[in-house]
Amino acid sequence: MLHDFYLGKIPHAGRCCSGVYAQMCTRGPIIAVVPPGKRVPHRTRADTFARLFEAVHEGVFVGTLTPDPLSEGTTEAINPFLKAMLGYAPGTTDERVAPFAPERFVDPAARQAFLGRLLTEGAVTDYLIRLRRLDGDPIWVEVTAHAGPSKKRGVSQVEALMRNVSERRRLDDQSRDLYQQLLQAEKMAALGQTISGVAHELNNPLATILSWAERLAERNLDETSRRGVEVILGESERAARIVRNLLTFARKRQSTRSMIDLNQVVRETLALRAYEQRLTNIDVVTALASGLPPVFADPHQIQQVLLNLVINAEQAMLTANGRGSLVLRTWHDVTHKAVVLQVSDDGPGVPTEVRSKIFDPFFTTKEVGKGTGLGLTVAYAIVQEHGGSIRVESPPSGGASFTVQFPVSSVEHAARPRASSGSTERSLDGASVLLVEDERALATAVVEALTEAGLHVEHAGDGEEALARVRQNRYDVVICDLKMPRVDGMTLYRAIATASPSLARRVIFVTGAVAGPEAERFLEESGCRWLSKPFRLADLLRNVREALA
Ligand SMILES: Nc1ncnc2c1ncn2[C@@H]1O[C@H](COP(=O)(O)OP(=O)(O)OP(=O)(O)O)[C@@H](O)[C@H]1O
Ligand SMILES: [Mg+2]
Repeated sequence: MLHDFYLGKIPHAGRCCSGVYAQMCTRGPIIAVVPPGKRVPHRTRADTFARLFEAVHEGVFVGTLTPDPLSEGTTEAINPFLKAMLGYAPGTTDERVAPFAPERFVDPAARQAFLGRLLTEGAVTDYLIRLRRLDGDPIWVEVTAHAGPSKKRGVSQVEALMRNVSERRRLDDQSRDLYQQLLQAEKMAALGQTISGVAHELNNPLATILSWAERLAERNLDETSRRGVEVILGESERAARIVRNLLTFARKRQSTRSMIDLNQVVRETLALRAYEQRLTNIDVVTALASGLPPVFADPHQIQQVLLNLVINAEQAMLTANGRGSLVLRTWHDVTHKAVVLQVSDDGPGVPTEVRSKIFDPFFTTKEVGKGTGLGLTVAYAIVQEHGGSIRVESPPSGGASFTVQFPVSSVEHAARPRASSGSTERSLDGASVLLVEDERALATAVVEALTEAGLHVEHAGDGEEALARVRQNRYDVVICDLKMPRVDGMTLYRAIATASPSLARRVIFVTGAVAGPEAERFLEESGCRWLSKPFRLADLLRNVREALA
């Protein structure tokens, strides 16, 4: 360019002395263009740079540094912007500000690396370091500096420009986090689908095993066979529970609710953790109110909520203190018609700034591999589905307390108990049942079991066959798989409802775990009885009795 630049205040607004139009720079000094040959009037060069030094919106440091890890160097000049950036009062004398002192660095090893590079190579460009302001807040700073020899041996003369890039880093981190979360969410969605598929495939064989084991358990067996059958029953129930938990995780929930005693769930859940808690020095105190009204809930899901809360508390207490004290309370909140469960710990508590995020999917403060950030998300979803609420409190004195409220069941729910003694006693002899099930092994097991219970059972392998049979014969009850090839359970139900509304009221559905929202809505709207696979024979028989009653 032919022009010189003039740095400094321009005597007349909009125009410099030489008459050339002046431009205002918003971030720094005023800049004007001076034609070649003309000199900048009124100001010396030193004056100009002094003004630039004072006004520039970048930190400027001039001083000396040495590679000594303990030496903080000396400061010859520091501009007001750098003082403010590091949190010093404007009046602080330059010599007292030491931007590269060891205590300014968040990471001492990073200081050594920075000094090593600057002093051996003589310069750094946009070098990123993390400094601590006077108030302790860390900031990210980009340094462009030059180092040359000084009068003293082993000491370098340094001029550095320093820029606070914390905000840029924060945005970068945020978008990287979002990207990671998106990746994780996609991974989870894919995993969820796989899990749902696998769970569905597992449910049919599990239902078959359970049916057979239950029937065998009722026989007169020798000691060894009895033990064997009981183990099979227990373990297949455990497998069924695992499948259910996986499905909760995959967010395809199919819940089996009943009237439950919350205290009972608390005791069972604590029993699961007892061994681990003893090993890790976690003391447990329970204060469970007696005479709690029952809640209409899925006990496995409530157990999952409780487990997630208890495990979080344990992890927090152990990480912070290597021990801990866990308190579980339940009570009846008469005013809010709720049963309340509270899990409190004496760990570090939940910092205010993360409190609003802890229920978010994938929010975790744990190391990679230690936490997925789903525990509280799942707990929140389950509690919501049960019409309840969950909240966290964490006082400054430490500790965290999670309070979960479940609505006390309405009369309507209570009026639909899973078994009433009257109907249990009712004889099933001679009642005719149509079982519609495409899974052959399961169908065989169920037909035999129902026949043994005194029912007259016919089997249809799919919806189409069932439709034909319903048109020809009279049945007292229809037990029907919801998901079948060709004519599915919903279509079959609608056909039955048109042909024989009274029979439609006696249809019992059996659903695989991946019924999906459409099927769930259908079950709710039709008001049909339903069981989820794998089911217990006793539950199926009770439903048949209730349908016949
Ligand atoms: N009792 C607690 N004390 C302190 N912090 C807690 C407590 N419970 C939860 N948190 C915080 O909430 C975050 C989210 O918890 P959440 O259970 O959703 O995920 P996670 O425990 O990190 O991982 P995951 O449960 O999926 O293994 C935790 O990372 C932790 O920072
Ligand atoms: Mg957790």
